Amino acid sequence: MGGRRAPSTILSVVGARPNFMKLAPLARQLARRADVRHLIVHTGQHYDPEMSDAFLRDLAIPRPDCNLAVGAGSHAQQTAAVMQRLEPVCLEARPDVVLVYGDVNSTLAAALVAAKLGIRVGHVEAGLRSRDWSMPEEINRVVTDRLSDLLFTPSRDAGDNLLAEGIPRERVHFVGNIMIDSLVALLPEARRRNGAGPAGAAGAAAGPYVVVTLHRPANVDDAATLRQLLDALAELSGDRRILFPVHPRTRARLQGMAWTPPRPDRFALLDPVSYVDMLQLVLGSDAVITDSGGLQEETTYLGIPCLTVRPNTERPITCSAGTNRLVAARRDALCEAARQLWGRRRMPPPTIERWDGNTAARIVAVLCDGASMD
Ligand code: UD1
Repeated sequence: MGGRRAPSTILSVVGARPNFMKLAPLARQLARRADVRHLIVHTGQHYDPEMSDAFLRDLAIPRPDCNLAVGAGSHAQQTAAVMQRLEPVCLEARPDVVLVYGDVNSTLAAALVAAKLGIRVGHVEAGLRSRDWSMPEEINRVVTDRLSDLLFTPSRDAGDNLLAEGIPRERVHFVGNIMIDSLVALLPEARRRNGAGPAGAAGAAAGPYVVVTLHRPANVDDAATLRQLLDALAELSGDRRILFPVHPRTRARLQGMAWTPPRPDRFALLDPVSYVDMLQLVLGSDAVITDSGGLQEETTYLGIPCLTVRPNTERPITCSAGTNRLVAARRDALCEAARQLWGRRRMPPPTIERWDGNTAARIVAVLCDGASMD
């Protein structure tokens, strides 16, 4: 054996709600390695306790070493603020690798900072493509992947996308879906909570229900589109109770329209719920109506029908697996798609390659032991 090497420093940058479930399993694995110093930077893109602290707590993420407190702003303001505040942190910590997660503004900003300092960038959830350049996330994904040295893909189609863009094959590692690591780890806790807390109580009340989440600018920032969706949900609340944890962006739009549910006994607007509470709600639901990326994957793993209110998805495997279907943001389209679901028998959960709870271990094998994952 050679002499003992100094521990390498890995710096993870997270900032928004969907980042946290991707960080948690990796933080747990890296904490076990004596040869690694793992630092966590929270950019503060999401800052409300229920958008951030509740997730860190449920997912047992160690307290971040640093919070950049960038808060809200335009895309340029938010991206620039992360860059300006992260650069000195990187200069001081001198990480060997900066890990970025998913496709939010904090992801792109951190990748730019690290790449320009000559620090290796690892992208967890690389290679997803909606091919819809009107989505800020698509820009974030493509640029982040171009800047990355280590591209950790969740599915084979993601690897194919990267190779088609000319990314060298040796940079691409098919490690599987890290969101599923968090899901597998916390499913027992979600089942145990059964009915606890306000979200649980709403779910446990009599009758079948559908979980709804909507937060994409394309769906909620345009009043006419949002109105179509709300009218559809109001109509569907006659068939199934609607439980709708409301994202702050959407909450502001609903307040702006002075909108309240027509039948509050059938249609509950909830505050944003924590990770385990959401899992609990989804587990008990008949179906999910959403524009979230993560929920498309979680429902696929669980075999729960999902209607995704978007014209495209960067996660086509969720559609080919049979659980997810894209629906136009129109009242008639959403009502028709939902009513087709009511009559259908639930399919058994599909099995998807490397969506198995072991993705973080594969990433650590690549990062720390030089493994390669084809
Ligand atoms: C961001 C991500 C999106 C992800 C979503 C998950 C980008 C471009 N978008 O969108 O990909 O799906 O997170 O939630 O990075 N706000 C609060 N409290 C918070 C956070 C936000 O009130 O804790 C409000 C602010 O008014 C802010 C608005 O929500 O202006 C939008 O927040 P922002 O982080 O800009 O984008 P999201 O819509 O959350």
